Amino acid sequence: MQHILEELDRRRAMARAGGGPKRIASQHAKGKLTARERIDVLLDEGSFEEFDMFVEHRSHDFGMEAQRIPGDGVVTGWGTINGRAVYVFSKDFTVFGGSLSKAQAEKIVKVQEMALRNGAPIIGLFDAGGARIQEGVDSLAGYADIFLQNVLSSGVIPQISVIMGPCAGGDVYSPAMTDFIFMVKDTAYMYVTGPDVVKTVINEDVSHEDLGGYRVHALKSGVSDGAFDNDLEALAQVRRLIDFLPLSNREKAPTRESFDDPDRVEPSLDSLVPANPNKPYDMKELLLKVVDEGDFFEISPEWAKNIIVGFGRMDGDTVGFVANQPQVLAGVLDIDSSRKAARFVRFCDAFNIPVVTLVDVPGFMPGTKQEQGGLIKHGAKLLFAFAEATVPKVTVITRKAYGGAFDVMSSKNIRGDFNYAWPTAEIAVMGPKQAVEIIFRADIGDPEKLGQRESEYKAHFANPFVAASRGYIDDVIMPHGTRRRIVRALKSLKSKSVTNPWKKHDNIPL
Ligand code: HXC
Repeated sequence: MQHILEELDRRRAMARAGGGPKRIASQHAKGKLTARERIDVLLDEGSFEEFDMFVEHRSHDFGMEAQRIPGDGVVTGWGTINGRAVYVFSKDFTVFGGSLSKAQAEKIVKVQEMALRNGAPIIGLFDAGGARIQEGVDSLAGYADIFLQNVLSSGVIPQISVIMGPCAGGDVYSPAMTDFIFMVKDTAYMYVTGPDVVKTVINEDVSHEDLGGYRVHALKSGVSDGAFDNDLEALAQVRRLIDFLPLSNREKAPTRESFDDPDRVEPSLDSLVPANPNKPYDMKELLLKVVDEGDFFEISPEWAKNIIVGFGRMDGDTVGFVANQPQVLAGVLDIDSSRKAARFVRFCDAFNIPVVTLVDVPGFMPGTKQEQGGLIKHGAKLLFAFAEATVPKVTVITRKAYGGAFDVMSSKNIRGDFNYAWPTAEIAVMGPKQAVEIIFRADIGDPEKLGQRESEYKAHFANPFVAASRGYIDDVIMPHGTRRRIVRALKSLKSKSVTNPWKKHDNIPL
């Protein structure tokens, strides 16, 4: 009997050794943790249970039959984060560069299926060289199996990807279909084709970093939802994010005991909006003063900064916040900010997370660049997302809500449940200057007259009371009481039940 137990120990030790001490040392020298070390940091201590640690590839080509490493380049299993179940797969770069064999794909699909069946999030830690070149089409088929599970799981369980090393070819499309992608600065890069292929096909010289580093994806393309300094920080932040999320679409997000008074007033908010309507202010200040204990998990903080999205809690319950940021491009809606917020709203709606929308938006960004880039379709994504969402929706207009952007930002007529405005709100078809230049075009040569028209327009429209008199705004509220009003609104919406007409699925303007 003893020798059987020892044999198990020996086999386990072999699997745990991955690609061996040399490759592990090289991994560490690059500032990266190993696949197993990452899992240890991500999960509650001692909670990880590994599956398939003895799985090996079945390839006989290119001498692969002589190179078999148990586990085959990915560590899979389940564990807990603050006591709640999550499923994990962690690519092991020390084993064949983490590349995907058919056997490895089967391991990943197994945990994907278990996560879906058991209603728990799945977290993928990526550090790999794409398709296992020696396996050819078997590897491609394996990727397709993973992609299919990503699609079937979408909207059912939260799927999170963390890019912690190279991530090329097939490895980028699985993360792309998950809900959130985070990167580790300087060690992570993701691209469909690497620098060598780029050189061959279009004769362009580019570095890994410039092609797919965090500066590309967390700042420009928006592919990544955030970048962190190192493995430890990235994994700690994923733990924090998981705490805000429900385990599946069948569950409610966890309620956290809050020590923050739901009736807390913030007198400083009464002077947040500057007297000059063209002066910016920081919408984040409002956000941080409204949420429980100032705890806000921002998604994509470095991309499309004219809109802020992220999770906070109101009296203990998770809420998704969408807020125009007047400090960046005056908070205008453009292609990127519309895409960013639309995807976020759809995530919240899929996972029963109420949405609070803070509005200060001068309209949609004008210009050829935006129109040629398809602003109409991209802006419509956000309109579509807010309109179709059936979760509780609370809106607070702090200042500008002009034109189509007023409609888009969770307005009453697209089923906003509670629509509030601060006394500083300006709700109109467009800003006073543009408006008078159109309707009093004949006065353009007479600045004095035009100025007078502008003042009249301002007095008439640049306030919340016209909208409030029509019922498009439920109440004009004191800025200092915003937290209390939002908490009360969300409480009254706890048993909200709305269903959309039956359909196979909608056809959001992609
Ligand atoms: C098999 C691979 C591999 C791969 C790396 N390795 N990528 N083995 N298949 N795709 C192995 C190496 O042979 C090496 O083995 C070890 O992993 C580490 O690789 P290095 O090249 O030494 O590491 P590094 O210099 O850090 O470079 C990392 C890398 C590079 C940039 C990822 O390895 C690379 O370019 N790999 C190929 C990337 C690629 O083109 N993949 C195919 C994409 S096509 P030893 O034994 O020496 O340690 C694709 C199609 C799917 O994925 C599409 C589905 C939609």
